[in-house]
Amino acid sequence: MEFDRVVRKRRMVRNYDPDRPVPQEVVDQLLDYAIRAPSAGFSQGWGFLVLETADDRDRFWAATAPAQTTSWLTRMRNAPLIIVPHSNRGVYEARYAEPDKGRPEAPPYWDIDAGFASLLMLLGAVDAGLGACFFGIPAQRVTNYRDAFGVPTAFTPIGAITVGYPAPDLRSPSLKRGRRPVSEVAHRGRWGVSY
Ligand SMILES: Cc1cc2nc3c(=O)[nH]c(=O)nc-3n(C[C@H](O)[C@H](O)[C@H](O)COP(=O)(O)O)c2cc1C
Repeated sequence: MEFDRVVRKRRMVRNYDPDRPVPQEVVDQLLDYAIRAPSAGFSQGWGFLVLETADDRDRFWAATAPAQTTSWLTRMRNAPLIIVPHSNRGVYEARYAEPDKGRPEAPPYWDIDAGFASLLMLLGAVDAGLGACFFGIPAQRVTNYRDAFGVPTAFTPIGAITVGYPAPDLRSPSLKRGRRPVSEVAHRGRWGVSY
């Protein structure tokens, strides 16, 4: 697919065809895109938990979702694939202490880099004809989540990504905000000079 089309077509998809698994080659492709993301100092301090079986996905939702079912949860649970991107601050601290960097403090890029990797997976899903949604794991459920999957405390999930073939969805109420135009967010030469 043309890059322009992939970018414009990408929307968060929150309902999926539960009967169409994500082909293994697409899963592999998404992970291959993820590791091609830029990272500060080429630290690559990320980790991805890939949940493909119904048991593992159930375990994820049981650990992270509130007990009360919502329409959002019912739709998201249809996703045949969940990828949880993690950041690891310690990797950046170690990398920036290396002689070629020699910085007393690592710049806080660990979540940014995991976010870049996540965006590549979101775009990769669209390119493969699928949909995906990046969403948050509530802070008070992160310990539950780590315990459920044996994730070391050095790794923090920056969110999670559902992936699958799109099914009829509800429009997110957030979209009512509308997209802020370039003229409002870009500044030419000096702040406040409209683009
Ligand atoms: C960091 C981040 C966190 C988000 N968290 C959630 C979430 O918890 N639940 C959800 O349904 N969507 C979540 N979204 C999706 C946004 O609501 C969505 O990107 C925004 O409304 C614009 O819609 P679009 O991505 O379809 O263009 C999140 C997006 C980002 C970038």
